[in-house]
Amino acid sequence: MFNIIIRDTYEELSAEAFKPVKEVLKKEHPVLGLATGSSPVGLYKEMIRDHKENGTSYQNVVTFNLDEYVGIPQNHAQSYYTFMHENLFNYIDCPESHIHVPEGFRKDEEQACVDYENALKQYSVDIQVLGIGRDGHIAFNEPGTPFTSETHLMDLTEETRTDNARFFDGDINQVPKKAITQGLASIMRAKKIILIATGENKAQAVYDMIKGPKSTNCPASILQDHADVRVYLDKAAASKLD
Ligand code: GLP
Repeated sequence: MFNIIIRDTYEELSAEAFKPVKEVLKKEHPVLGLATGSSPVGLYKEMIRDHKENGTSYQNVVTFNLDEYVGIPQNHAQSYYTFMHENLFNYIDCPESHIHVPEGFRKDEEQACVDYENALKQYSVDIQVLGIGRDGHIAFNEPGTPFTSETHLMDLTEETRTDNARFFDGDINQVPKKAITQGLASIMRAKKIILIATGENKAQAVYDMIKGPKSTNCPASILQDHADVRVYLDKAAASKLD
C-alpha cells in the first residue's frame, strides 16, 4: 500500500522522510536499509543533524546498503561504499563492523552476491530507503529483473550509465558496466519502505510504479504488493499522478 507525501521543497521532503527513520531509531537494535543516489542525501543530512543536536546514537544500528558497482576498488571515489561514508557514516557513530555494502571489488562476484544475501537474511530490515531510476529501477534492478530475485549481478543499462556519468566526470566510459544489487524479493522483505523522488524526469517512473500494471518493465511496480510504502515526492515528480 502506498502512502504518498508531497512537499514543495526538497528540504521539507527530507525532513518528512526522516520521521519514520527516527521512529525506528528508538528501537533497541534498529536495522536500516540504505540507498545511494542524490535523492536520499537530504535525509542523511537530517540524520546527521539529529545525531549532532539530539545525540541520537547509531552504536546499536546495523545497516545494509542496496548495491555497489563491480570492478572498482572499495575506496574508489565513486564507489557506493565511499558515497555512504562521505554522505553519512563519517558523521554518525555507527560502528564500521555494523555497516554492510555489497563487495563489488571481490574477484568472485557470484560468491559475493551469495554471501551478501546470506548476511542480509540474518536480519530483518526495519526500514528501507529507496530512490527510483528514470526507467523505474530500484537499487540496480533494471527492467526485466524477476520479482523473485535475490542479491545478484546486474548489467547496467545505457540509460542508467548515462544518468550516473555525472559522477564520473560526465564520461559514460568510466561508469562500471556491472553492479551487485539486492534483488526485488530481498527489498520486499523490509518491514517498511520509504521512497524519495524529485524532479520531472522521475514523474513517469513514479506514475508507472503507483498506477501502472504490476510488471517487470517497471521494477518498482512490485512495491504495489508491499504493505507499508511511503512515497516522498516534490510536485514535479508527482505531476503525472491525479
Ligand atoms: C542509481 C542507484 C539507485 C538510485 C538511482 C537514482 O542507479 N543504484 O539506487 O535510486 O540511481 O538516483 P538519484 O537519486 O541520484 O536520481
